[in-house]
Amino acid sequence: MNGLGKGVLAVTDRPSIRRIFTASAAGRRLSLRYVAGETLDDAAAAAEALNDRGARVSLDYLGEHVTQPAEAIVARDAYLDCVDRIRTARLDADLSIKLTQLGLGLDDGLAVDSLARIAVRANEVGTTVTVDMEESAHTEATVTAFEEVQAGSGNLGIAVQSYLYRTASDLDRIIPKGGRVRLCKGAYAESREVAYQERKRVDANFDVLLARLMTSTGIEPAIATHDAARIAEAKKLARTRREPWEFQMLYGIRRQLQQELIDEGYSLRVYVPFGTAWYQYLTRRLAERPANLAFFFRAAIGR
Ligand code: FDA
Repeated sequence: MNGLGKGVLAVTDRPSIRRIFTASAAGRRLSLRYVAGETLDDAAAAAEALNDRGARVSLDYLGEHVTQPAEAIVARDAYLDCVDRIRTARLDADLSIKLTQLGLGLDDGLAVDSLARIAVRANEVGTTVTVDMEESAHTEATVTAFEEVQAGSGNLGIAVQSYLYRTASDLDRIIPKGGRVRLCKGAYAESREVAYQERKRVDANFDVLLARLMTSTGIEPAIATHDAARIAEAKKLARTRREPWEFQMLYGIRRQLQQELIDEGYSLRVYVPFGTAWYQYLTRRLAERPANLAFFFRAAIGR
C-alpha cells in the first residue's frame, strides 16, 4: 500500500472518525457501495442476484480482531448459519473467514477449533472455506492454522498477498496441501521490513506468483484482482491450464468488468461481505482508491 493509502488508514482508524461514520445514516449508506447489507437475508439476496448473473459467491460475515472469546463464538455461529443458508437457498457460494474474528491472537486454539467446525459443516453441504489473509503479524499463525485444518477437512482455501516478501516461501507449504489459493495484492498498511511498498514491485511479484499458481497442479488458483494488466496475464496463462481456476472480485467494484469476464466464459466469484461490523472493511476499500475519499467526506458532513 502506498503512502497515501497508509495516510487514509491512519485517519480512518481514529475513534472520533470511526464514530462519525458508524453512528450516521450517511455512513451506513456509504458502506452499501461495498457491503451487501447488515443481515444474512441481505447477503443471501445479493448472492442470489449474483448467481442469476452467472457469478459464484463467497460470503464474508464482517468482523475481525475480537477481544472476547464470546464474540468469537458468535462469529463462528454466524458462519454455521451461513452454511445452512447456502444449503436451504441452494446458493452457489462458499465462505471467506478472517481468523482474528474466530479468536486468533486471543485464543488460537479456539480459532482453529472453530475453523475446523465450520469446515466440517461446509463439507456436509459440498462447499469450501477460504481463510482471508490479514496483517503480517498473523501470517505465520494463519498459514499454520490452514495446514492443520486442511489436513483433516480437505475443503479449505487460503489467501496470499503479493506485497509480502515471504509469500513465495509460504506457497512452498500451501501448495502441497491443495485447495483454493487466492492471490491478491494485500490490503493492509505494512512496513518496508516485510512488504514491497512500490506498486510496481507488488505487481511484479503478483505476476511471478500468478505464474507459479497457474502452472501448479492439485490446487485451484483464485486470481483476486480488478487490475486489467494482472487479469490479462491470468488469461494468457489460462490457455495452457488444464485444472480449474477462477477470477475473484469484490462486491461493488468494477461491476461491468465482472460481467464481461462472465460473458467471455470465465469463472468469476464475487466476495460478498455483510454484517454490522463494516467499518474496517470500508476503510480498506477507501485506502485502495483515495479518489473514493470524496464520498467519505461528503457522507461525513451529511450531504
Ligand atoms: P488495484 O488496487 O491496482 O486496482 C485496480 C483497479 O481496480 C483500480 O484502478 C480501480 O479501477 C479498481 N479498484 C480497486 N480497488 C477499488 C476500490 N476500493 N474502489 C473502487 N475501485 C477499485 N486483501 C488482503 O490483504 N487479504 C485478503 O484476504 C483479501 N481478500 C480479497 C478477496 C478478493 C475476492 C479480492 C478481489 C481482493 C481481496 N483483497 C484481500 C484485497 C486486495 O489485496 C486488494 O487490496 C484489492 O483487491 C485492490 O487491489 P487490485 O488487485 O484490485 O488492484
